Amino acid sequence: MTVVIALANQKGGVGKTTTTVSLAAALAARGLRVLVVDADPQANATSAVGATKDDEGGLYEALVDERPLDDAVRATNIDGLSILPTTPALAGAEVELVSVMAREFRMKRALDALRPRFDLILVDCPPSLGLLTVNALAACDEVIIPVQCEYFALEGLSHLSHTIELVQRNLNPRLVIRGVVLTMFDARTNLSREVEAEVRSHFPNTFDAVIPRSVRLAEAPSHGEPITVFDPTSTGARAYFDLGDELIAALRAHDLIPAPRPEASSEGTASAPSTALRAVVASTPTALATVPTTSHEVATIPQTTRDVMTQPQPHTPSDSGAQEQTHGA
Ligand SMILES: Nc1ncnc2c1ncn2[C@@H]1O[C@H](COP(=O)(O)OP(=O)(O)O)[C@@H](O)[C@H]1O
Ligand SMILES: [Mg+2]
Repeated sequence: MTVVIALANQKGGVGKTTTTVSLAAALAARGLRVLVVDADPQANATSAVGATKDDEGGLYEALVDERPLDDAVRATNIDGLSILPTTPALAGAEVELVSVMAREFRMKRALDALRPRFDLILVDCPPSLGLLTVNALAACDEVIIPVQCEYFALEGLSHLSHTIELVQRNLNPRLVIRGVVLTMFDARTNLSREVEAEVRSHFPNTFDAVIPRSVRLAEAPSHGEPITVFDPTSTGARAYFDLGDELIAALRAHDLIPAPRPEASSEGTASAPSTALRAVVASTPTALATVPTTSHEVATIPQTTRDVMTQPQPHTPSDSGAQEQTHGA
């Protein structure tokens, strides 16, 4: 079983990439085999995990030429975390795909082939609702929406929700909105609290974990390390560990991901984990069994989504039987 999750919001600068990379590293630290797919030609996720843009072929070739992605997946220095780096050519994919048949399913085909190698695949979407994001939404099982705690936070979310509904109706009936993540929360301001209250009232499936505004989170990418390695005891790292544990609990409540392995898988392992990572793993022995499971999450999926999810499901990947059951419940 593998869960593919797109991190999407057509607004730029809301924390998609930071959340993709930090969450992925937090999940990998819990022993899961995680792949980050950098679907943004800006390559921020690629550099944030210390990888470089890949000239050898990758997502672009998979989308445009239907080449398999197996050789494009790269290990990172973090145990259990792999990256599918973006390619410089990806920027042209949106245009080149326009005239292609079944162009919305190219990423799905490519990523489905990688499912057996990973427990979770997180797709970092570009800041638009173009073909790359639509491909990601068609390829994934779930979507997480990072929302920045700022004045116009909700602006654009109705457009995004509408796009997700269109994808559910036409391309991917199984697509579930896993939740909204509040990012760049500033506890000193009333604005952050007001935005949090408003977002929670519109999106009951907003994660409990809230990501604080933190200089360390902004600094981490320039060191090519996720926050969980760069500064594992910082408030930002702790928030992303909390988010990861919340996600793991929700997915495990439906048997969508396996129990943690005693030893992290060798998948995507280039070298031993850093001392800092070992320290944080040792200091946070959160057995998954002790993480409270959330029973409310199916109930909090928007009604439109649940309606869609009970309809016949034509695009079912071979390994997602359990997910189909639970998501359709
Ligand atoms: N919680 C945070 N605190 C401080 N800075 C942040 C935080 N999250 C993201 N940033 C910074 O804000 C900018 C935009 O974040 P990013 O994750 O790249 O957004 P997106 O991928 O949605 O465009 C980046 O410079 C990033 O380092
Ligand atoms: Mg980004």
